[in-house]
Amino acid sequence: DSLSAKIPLTIRLCGPRGFCAGVDRAIQIVVLALKAYGAPVYVRHEIVHNRYVVEGLQAKGAIFVEELDEIPAEHRSQPVVFSAHGVPKSVPEDARTRNLFYLDATCPLVSKVHKQAMRHQRLGRHVILIGHAGHPEVIGTMGQLPEGSVSLIETVEDAARYQPENPDNLGYVTQTTLSVDDTAGVIDKLMERFPNLTAPAADSICYATTNRQEAVKQAAPGCDLFVTVGAPNSSNSKRLVEVALKAGAQRSILVQRASELDWDEIGPIRTLGLSAGASAPEVVVNEIIEAFKSRFDATIELAEFTIENENFLVNRELREVELTQQ
Ligand code: F3S
Repeated sequence: DSLSAKIPLTIRLCGPRGFCAGVDRAIQIVVLALKAYGAPVYVRHEIVHNRYVVEGLQAKGAIFVEELDEIPAEHRSQPVVFSAHGVPKSVPEDARTRNLFYLDATCPLVSKVHKQAMRHQRLGRHVILIGHAGHPEVIGTMGQLPEGSVSLIETVEDAARYQPENPDNLGYVTQTTLSVDDTAGVIDKLMERFPNLTAPAADSICYATTNRQEAVKQAAPGCDLFVTVGAPNSSNSKRLVEVALKAGAQRSILVQRASELDWDEIGPIRTLGLSAGASAPEVVVNEIIEAFKSRFDATIELAEFTIENENFLVNRELREVELTQQ
């Protein structure tokens, strides 16, 4: 109760954490589109995997749809934004057929993976995509190439079982938000079986994924609890939860908001690790810190692995609109 002294708690706050340049850009694209063209602005799929962000944009006039045919005829002249995860080639084609005005918020680092996959194919290689089935980024990357020209590998077991038609002519790419260590294991297994497997010209796992995982890895040992702020459908956030556990945190959980914290289950911890997935806004991180501060005598220790300077420009249409409006 409020009369008893609070237990001291060290919060190891990981850096970098939270928004990456791709997420920041995608949100800016929706906000600028609303400013430039007025509401509603349609967004195909959650712009980034975060409810807080989605609800904030809805309040400003964004309407989220899963497919383009959900856009009513009278709103065809309003823009539709494609999410940061990327889309199969069929989606912009469909938008053109329907005469829709679209703005593509695919992260440039996802587009880079698309290009690498297409390059493998152009050079006659069958493409292996390492990633998680059903994730929109995987659907988008597979959809860059004709059906049947990409094989999805999810695990080391998949890699051990995979039977390609031509084992000497394979190239791989990966999802951008995978576990760096688990992916290395999958690639090792593939390389062992197919020594001529060609890597992409640049790593597919992005800088933001790599940096967030590295910071968590350094902060997690000795933590009684590790909290990752993020959504259950956010791939990179889920990987942070796993990385924390593997690196030595006693327990590791994913939460979207402070209200989800179960204080009875948390108990009298002494050291807390804290990070946030690339789609989780800093306001929610602060909300979590405040919640712990109200129950513990908390001290914050920065566990900063590196400082990021990446910044991606928004689509040209919006850059010009922004300037002319000022
Ligand atoms: Fe892009 Fe990586 Fe973020 S691919 S959207 S910078 S997690």
